[in-house]
Amino acid sequence: MRFAPLFAAASLAVSGVTASPLSIDVDISSVIGFDLSASNFYGAPRPPWTPGAHPGWYFGDHPHLFPDLPCLEGLICKLLELIPIKWLHCPRKPPHNPPSDGYQQTFHNLTGATQASDYQTYGLVDTIAQCKAMCDSVEGCKFVNTYHDVNGKGGSTQLTCSLFSSCHDSSDATNTGGQTQPDGSINFITNSDGYCKH
Ligand SMILES: *[C@@H]1O[C@H](CO)[C@@H](O)[C@H](O)[C@H]1NC(C)=O
Repeated sequence: MRFAPLFAAASLAVSGVTASPLSIDVDISSVIGFDLSASNFYGAPRPPWTPGAHPGWYFGDHPHLFPDLPCLEGLICKLLELIPIKWLHCPRKPPHNPPSDGYQQTFHNLTGATQASDYQTYGLVDTIAQCKAMCDSVEGCKFVNTYHDVNGKGGSTQLTCSLFSSCHDSSDATNTGGQTQPDGSINFITNSDGYCKH
């Protein structure tokens, strides 16, 4: 059902409607099928350390693996560009081997993920560079934490990417998992890395 309104809106966009997007009185989340506004933590209102948490989005090269998540590519990006700033916008694809990406690593390969009150959103990515690119497209984002949530998120092997508005060190990497999953397994965290934007 998501797709019918999506295509309707797309044809609206490509047919060259010149009115300000803000003046088009539609409920954007009903058009794209997801509430990716800042007030809804860009689709992930429950932080990853809480029961029932679910990633808000996917950014990477394998969108077919995540039919239930908004994948930040193609048409959905064009639609998100029409939406006011306090919505998620698609990141630019990160360059390969940039000389400096503007981030400094604050911890490396821990078994705990950052748990802090300045949480902004979380989703799934393929690479650390993609998570940093996400942070660069979220207003106020200062810190990324990437990790593998083993047994979590329906068994996904992708990296979890969670974003925060201030920097954190290893002392806040206190989410070590321990949530019982629907299939009875218990999740745990590996390869947790933190990067502060400066
Ligand atoms: C991360 O830590 C695990 C276990 O503590 C270790 O086996 C692995 O080699 C480490 N990986 C890196 C990239 O340091």
